[in-house]
Amino acid sequence: MEKRLTKLAPSILAADFSRLGEQVSLIERAGAHLVHVDIMDGHFVPNISFGAAVMKSLEGKTNLPFDVHLMIENPDQYAPEFVTPNTEYITVHQEACTHLCRSIQNIKALGVKVGVALNPATPESVLEYVLADIDLVLVMSVNPGFGGQKFLSSALDKVRALSALREETGLSFEIEIDGGITLDNVRQAEDAGASLIVAGSSVFGAPDIEKRVKEFLAW
Ligand code: DX5
Ligand code: ZN
Repeated sequence: MEKRLTKLAPSILAADFSRLGEQVSLIERAGAHLVHVDIMDGHFVPNISFGAAVMKSLEGKTNLPFDVHLMIENPDQYAPEFVTPNTEYITVHQEACTHLCRSIQNIKALGVKVGVALNPATPESVLEYVLADIDLVLVMSVNPGFGGQKFLSSALDKVRALSALREETGLSFEIEIDGGITLDNVRQAEDAGASLIVAGSSVFGAPDIEKRVKEFLAW
């Protein structure tokens, strides 16, 4: 059997917050690889989600690594709050960082892996001079701010371009795709070169969450 390299990171933005621990246990038991944590501040994006306290309530309740997606202004100020024993990645938006290189250095100094997210209108070329310093590029396949939006297929071209760049440069950053991913388009995302898949409503909105994670992992 062909070895699957893609990892699944369900977004708890779409979870039932009143049963968060229980729902994260379900995805963990079903084989998900990370928990995607969407942090929205009502400034960088037109919606407020939740803060570090909610994420930290999962500490000790799951062994899954946290994949923190900061959709906030001033990420340098708030990133330290998201460092926990579970935190694997902290990702900032290129569009929110005036001094992106410094933000990357600051996050690395926290002892976690660093990612940079790109809005749908932002080309991958903005990362040319930092690509060697980052662990992950997050390609937004919706405009950030809300779960449950329609997948923008132009994101696949960006994933392909990044994948080619990774090949050319011999770098090993992960390529993450986030927004509107379903069982119907996940294969395309993987074929384009995404190595980390985020899925929110298609996982937590499913009638049987565990079964849905397994369906994703069986692609
Ligand atoms: C959007 C968030 C996404 C979102 C994914 O701003 O960054 O992670 O929660 O949710 P779905 O899969 O429902 O588009
Ligand atoms: Zn996200």
